Amino acid sequence: MSPATLSQSTDDVAHSDALVIFGFSGDLASKKIFPALYAMVKKGVLSVPVIGVASSPWGSDEWHRHVRASVEHDAAIDDEAAFDRLLSLIDYVAGDYADESTFDALKKALGTAERPAHYLAIPPSLFATVIRGLGATGLADNARVIVEKPFGRDLASARELNAMALSVFPEDAIFRIDHYLGKDAIMNILYFRFANSFLEPIWNRNHVASVQVTLAEEFGVGERGGFYESAGCLRDVVENHLFQILALLAMEPPAFQDFAAVHSAKASVLRAMQPLAADALVRGQYDGYRQEANVAPDSDIETFCAARLFIDSWRWGGVPWYLRAGKRLPTTAVEVRVQLHAPPQKLFDDSGREAGNANYLRFKLQPGSAIALAARIKQPGKAFLGELRELYLHEDEGQEDESHVETTYERLLGDAMAGDGALFTSQDAVEAAWAVVEPVLNDHDPALPYAPGSWGPAAADALIAGDGAWHNPQPEEQP
Ligand code: NDP
Ligand code: BG6
Repeated sequence: MSPATLSQSTDDVAHSDALVIFGFSGDLASKKIFPALYAMVKKGVLSVPVIGVASSPWGSDEWHRHVRASVEHDAAIDDEAAFDRLLSLIDYVAGDYADESTFDALKKALGTAERPAHYLAIPPSLFATVIRGLGATGLADNARVIVEKPFGRDLASARELNAMALSVFPEDAIFRIDHYLGKDAIMNILYFRFANSFLEPIWNRNHVASVQVTLAEEFGVGERGGFYESAGCLRDVVENHLFQILALLAMEPPAFQDFAAVHSAKASVLRAMQPLAADALVRGQYDGYRQEANVAPDSDIETFCAARLFIDSWRWGGVPWYLRAGKRLPTTAVEVRVQLHAPPQKLFDDSGREAGNANYLRFKLQPGSAIALAARIKQPGKAFLGELRELYLHEDEGQEDESHVETTYERLLGDAMAGDGALFTSQDAVEAAWAVVEPVLNDHDPALPYAPGSWGPAAADALIAGDGAWHNPQPEEQP
């Protein structure tokens, strides 16, 4: 493990000599992958052929337009020469993944490439079909496969998918993406915890009263109704993105300086989590979801989840972990709040155990990145009365987009093509996460309606009431 990058050494590992993108016409490719590829070409770190595969019968004019519109998704193209270089690297193969001839056409398009990386930016229901197709046509030989989340639909299907993937690719050629692990702010949890020594003495059940993690999105499912109907919030972001954040917050220090030790420590936390109980889960559905495209008129799919979880370990026994995620909430933000106990003695009128008065640590993970430690400070005057104020450490907003910094998917695709698995999920962690949510995947209360722009159903507030209240991220606030 390099102390600077937490990367696996790839000195002796061959770099992929082509990148294949299954799901070339999809939402993920459009929003995140093409902007990442453009940035990589601009920096000179992508020069291998890129082959897109999807079923849309596009001619070159159409996919050129699609790539341009995608790259311009967040910002205007500022380097036309680099964009032209990107287009010159790309080729497109139209075909159904269930059709063997699609893979024959892909083989032809790959030409002399010997070590392609196949990126599956496709609905999870198609992962197995594509991996099988790659195996059957010899396209898996010396290749890597990068698989999007969710990896499976439950524990049994995750195991089945893994066994199938392992029958085609060796373990070190399988890269299971959870793109939250490629986010700098989330990796900063790991760094902040273990590069500082002041946290460790308080980072346990004796000092931490509860932990909250909120992943809020202002937008709805949009064009992704079909995908969402097969997933729901719990599978889409809770058992993967939120669990990864929880694991980084809760894990023991890695036993040695290697990324494998980080994977192992995270998997141990997930294995120590109690299975989620049905009465510790609130599912919600925003009003209007059933009218979205490709959504069943009587759908019970949840677009909001709030859950209370426990980790059975010496460090965390009895500490409630509240996770919350949803679409059509008041804002788009990801935030962690680690609530510390109030002082045991009430020396001042306002410093006792009353809710809202105790110290906390806040990790603002998105948008931007910040860490705040809230401490009580005496107000001027004779009276011993104070207020809770935050010591606030922050990165400049938008820093992630600066030319010297890699965006999430630049980092993940670059790492996978270089054979560096440090920021990818292990199968152990995938299975442990499914085991936690397994009891409630099918056995749960109906999704409760909530108004778009609200913080979900009132039952979510009742869930946390015994330990205080949800702290809603306030993206507009300034330090
Ligand atoms: P979409 O439904 O938008 O895209 C699906 C893609 O697969 C399209 O390119 C579609 O091609 C292609 N496709 C579907 N069926 C076939 C088929 N039978 N044969 C050939 N091509 C087919 O999905 P998303 O992009 O939203 O999601 C893909 C994956 O990425 C999921 O696993 C999701 O969890 C993950 N993800 C998504 C994020 C997002 O923000 N969207 C963020 C992070 C992860 P065509 O349209 O041409 O038929
Ligand atoms: C994806 C989910 O994995 O993560 C989406 O499929 C969600 O539903 C997205 O919107 C959130 O990612 P980010 O990076 O925009 O916070």
